[in-house]
Amino acid sequence: MLAISERKNGANPMVPYLGKLVKVKDLAAEIKLFSVEMLDGGREAFSQYYPGQFAFLSAFGVGEAPFGIASTPERGPILDFAVNRLGSVTSELHLLGEGDIVGVRGPLGNCFPMDEFKGKDLIVLGGGIGGAPLRPVIHSVLDNREDYGDLTILWAARHPSLLVFSDEYEQWRSAPGTRLHLTVDQPDDLWDHNVGLITELLEKVSPSPKNAISITCGPPVMIYYASKLLEKLGFKAEQNYVTLEARMHCGIGKCGRCNLGEKLVCVDGPVFSMAEVGGLRESFL
Ligand SMILES: Cc1cc2nc3c(=O)[nH]c(=O)nc-3n(C[C@H](O)[C@H](O)[C@H](O)COP(=O)(O)OP(=O)(O)OC[C@H]3O[C@@H](n4cnc5c(N)ncnc54)[C@H](O)[C@@H]3O)c2cc1C
Ligand code: FES
Repeated sequence: MLAISERKNGANPMVPYLGKLVKVKDLAAEIKLFSVEMLDGGREAFSQYYPGQFAFLSAFGVGEAPFGIASTPERGPILDFAVNRLGSVTSELHLLGEGDIVGVRGPLGNCFPMDEFKGKDLIVLGGGIGGAPLRPVIHSVLDNREDYGDLTILWAARHPSLLVFSDEYEQWRSAPGTRLHLTVDQPDDLWDHNVGLITELLEKVSPSPKNAISITCGPPVMIYYASKLLEKLGFKAEQNYVTLEARMHCGIGKCGRCNLGEKLVCVDGPVFSMAEVGGLRESFL
């Protein structure tokens, strides 16, 4: 994989490529899915990338922010990003529509070792917008179904209106050897799935750690308590993968802004096994 800091043509790795928004759709309350067609040099830069990697999207005149890439190149050249509206950059991105141009810097960071996961059962835990970087994992497994064992997806949000990728659930559920469990903290009148925190659902589903890998992405509090519970269920630190977020500036290991102990989330991560980070302490919350 060619890191952005090693661009073949010697171009400045802090300068984004240009991409055209070919589709913008509401994914959940305050969350939009941006589908981006890369232009010019960006086509080659993003011709290959891997589940777990991220990129910076820039809204011109405002700034840039990092987002997990929510697509896989095997399904086509269009990049997907799920963007939760929070502050200045994400609010500006939410004002854009089809045909608008954004900056895209990446692909950045490491990725899930999908080859090492082959032949194993996978338990995927996604909380809220944390589901975005897990969608490529799910797509990769579904597109190469015979390479992996059972796939158990635990998918959570505070409210049904905040669940991401709900239009894909039937497809996920109907794939062989695949189970999808949904839960929300606050149900509405139509909700007929689980109610409660994802950790309660995890306790109920109680997946076996035998020949299994867990992959968790969500808010820090969810990652912390899910990891503790997975440990209680018998998952060893090297079986427990998480993707972590940090405040970032450069994204290429130069500014030190994203440090997590001795690791830099932007280049050593965002994917880590619990063995790599030595477990999570309460200060992580
Ligand atoms: C590797 C990585 C992958 C990410 N993937 C996604 C994704 O797929 N979808 C998505 O919507 N968001 C994702 N994020 C978070 C996203 O980068 C922030 O929400 C974004 O930077 C906010 O920018 P802003 O200018 O709109 O907000 P700001 O104006 O900078 O801040 C608004 C609020 O957001 C908080 N905030 C800002 N940056 C971060 C951050 N990096 N992590 C946590 N809180 C932050 C601030 O503390 C503040 O409360 C990811 C972050 C990282 C590091
Ligand atoms: S964001 Fe600069 S070192 Fe990670």
